[in-house]
Amino acid sequence: ICNDIHEDKTMDSSMLFIQEDHDHLPDQFIWSNDPHVSQTAIGVLDAPIIDLQGFFRHDKEATLHAANLVKKSCVSHGVFQIVNHGIDPSLLALVDEHARAFFKLPITEKLKYKKKEGSVVGFTSAHAHRFAKNLPWKEMLTLEYHENGPDEIVADFFKSALGGQLKETGLIYQNYCHSLKKLALEIFELLDISLGGVDGHQYYRELFKDCISLLRCNYYPRCNQPNLTNGVGPHCDPTSITLLYQDQVGGLEVFTDNKWKSVPPHRDALVVILGDTFKALSNGKYQSCLHRVIVNNYTPRLSLAFFVNPRGDKVLKPPQQLVEEHGGREYPDFTWEEYFYFTQKHYRPDGDTLENFT
Ligand code: SIN
Ligand code: FE2
Repeated sequence: ICNDIHEDKTMDSSMLFIQEDHDHLPDQFIWSNDPHVSQTAIGVLDAPIIDLQGFFRHDKEATLHAANLVKKSCVSHGVFQIVNHGIDPSLLALVDEHARAFFKLPITEKLKYKKKEGSVVGFTSAHAHRFAKNLPWKEMLTLEYHENGPDEIVADFFKSALGGQLKETGLIYQNYCHSLKKLALEIFELLDISLGGVDGHQYYRELFKDCISLLRCNYYPRCNQPNLTNGVGPHCDPTSITLLYQDQVGGLEVFTDNKWKSVPPHRDALVVILGDTFKALSNGKYQSCLHRVIVNNYTPRLSLAFFVNPRGDKVLKPPQQLVEEHGGREYPDFTWEEYFYFTQKHYRPDGDTLENFT
């Protein structure tokens, strides 16, 4: 390990601190001997920008158009983008500003929010996770959001540390999670329509009421040897859907047709990424999106991923109509608790975790 990377032995030993100015990456960050990882992206992904305005107005034609675009992209790779999504642009700007301010704090301050062993909530730096044996070139702050939990659970996380300095950040994040969860329920309805749902298109919406979601702020520092490492290695999200805000830097890539393709940022869009759980809920009709994040040598990148998880104990199954269409079930009944536990032990970076889960 280089001198300029400090390992704190009192913490989880897989946590290293990234420094932007070192010239040689420590071994843990080097991914380039994995061909799946080092293959560079070719071209731009056809991830349609879907305008939600007409759908929100219950305009039949506009809804059908949006649903068709959703279907096309979910059948082929599992990612699309949305504009006129109803999240206030000034709220997005505030959330971006406060996340940046957090990551710019000295590491000693950020460590006051350190993730505790066994918890998902808190700050981590270059922390090894199930997606890879290598370390990702990023720092993360993860928060938990309970739709029907105490009103200020996200805000509470920030209240006490740093003498209450981040109290305002907490309230902004609480507000952001609240708006995103509402938006997620609308997206589930649109997904339902796109799958030809019956019964008023409420099937998925109902499954995701009152559940716990996670907001993960990702900060990818600049890197002097960006081609050797990864911000996040190739993976599918185990969750149902991820609503992603990315800044204007770029770095998100999706694997489709045997190639990596980039998803360039669009100023007003949020990215919707389908995960394994939704793939199962669509009876395998829709793809779980295989994606990764590359880093660069000129500027840091910020993204905020809101993971919409089902309630841990709820039995998940696709609507009967999809089962009949397909002539049977593609995956057995499972709960999010069971699947999440499985992914901790048997994660497959080729995207086949769900296929190996029985
Ligand atoms: C992730 O997939 O974990 C992060 C996505 C991003 O930063 O764009
Ligand atoms: Fe992801």
